[in-house]
Amino acid sequence: MKINSKTKTVCLLGHPIEQSFSPSIHNYLFEKYNKNYTYICFDVNPGDLKKGIQGLRALKIFGCNVTIPHKVDVIRYLDEVDKNAKLIGAVNTIKNEGGILKGYNTDGKGFVKSILDKGYDLKGKKVMIIGAGGSCRSIAVELASNNVELIEIRNRSEERAKNITLMLNENFDIKVQYSTKKIETADLDSIDILINTTPIGMGTSECPIDESIIPNKKLLVCDIVYKPHDTNFIKWGCKNGFDTIYGIDMLINQGLEAFYIWTNINPTKEDQNAIKKFYLDSIK
Ligand SMILES: NC(=O)c1ccc[n+]([C@@H]2O[C@H](COP(=O)([O-])OP(=O)(O)OC[C@H]3O[C@@H](n4cnc5c(N)ncnc54)[C@H](OP(=O)(O)O)[C@@H]3O)[C@@H](O)[C@H]2O)c1
Repeated sequence: MKINSKTKTVCLLGHPIEQSFSPSIHNYLFEKYNKNYTYICFDVNPGDLKKGIQGLRALKIFGCNVTIPHKVDVIRYLDEVDKNAKLIGAVNTIKNEGGILKGYNTDGKGFVKSILDKGYDLKGKKVMIIGAGGSCRSIAVELASNNVELIEIRNRSEERAKNITLMLNENFDIKVQYSTKKIETADLDSIDILINTTPIGMGTSECPIDESIIPNKKLLVCDIVYKPHDTNFIKWGCKNGFDTIYGIDMLINQGLEAFYIWTNINPTKEDQNAIKKFYLDSIK
């Protein structure tokens, strides 16, 4: 990659940012598609976000990703926010359109792309989501936008599950319900897709479901935790002979969706595989 006076900057705003995989995704794609852009990370402390966004405007930064802890607060500093990002209440991607900063959320879209890429059709599907945090909210909005029939949220506590259920019921014509009960075998009889959006399993061998459960029907099992790559939830899905979707797929696909927003280029399956290979090599 040759940086010159015409190079456009795309960046990440977050705190901390050292662990981010986004520079590897985007610098690979900028080079592959011959775009004179470069992707760098800025560590923006909590409390400095307003100045960070003023900096984007002053420096005419072309585009940006936003990560923890700024995804919710950033909305107040933007000029426009995409409809689904407004419902989600968080933005992870910004495009600077001639000085107008427009916000998007590609987390749920990236997750949905992982399912569609696997050849599944979401229309009419019944989905159970474990957890009711920020990622559940973004995934649920995109599943609802893709006409699933039912979303059931299972969370250990009520408040956030109830809030997401209310928001989905107000905005989409699908069935949405929640429960704080532990998942039992019979609960899985009527669903098609089971998704873990809690951090359970991140860096540990814990599993968000009782691993002795053997479902009576075939499920698509999806984890959004990506460290370790093979979580115990994914292993539970494989042990039962189910199709599985890994956390890394959402991580890569949310990046590909952001790349499309900035460049109007849809990266290929080959790009996805190449990026996945860097990632898997980097954690060996
Ligand atoms: N693959 C990707 O691209 C991607 C993207 C985003 C996030 N993630 C991962 O997804 C995970 C969740 O992120 P998030 O932003 O949604 O987090 P979050 O907003 O903090 O929400 C976490 C949810 O999990 C529940 N939870 C947390 N610990 C639990 C436990 N020990 N037992 C049962 N439930 C528990 C919480 O329940 P309460 O409501 O009761 O607190 C909450 O509903 C993280 O591990 C994150 O790294 C992956």
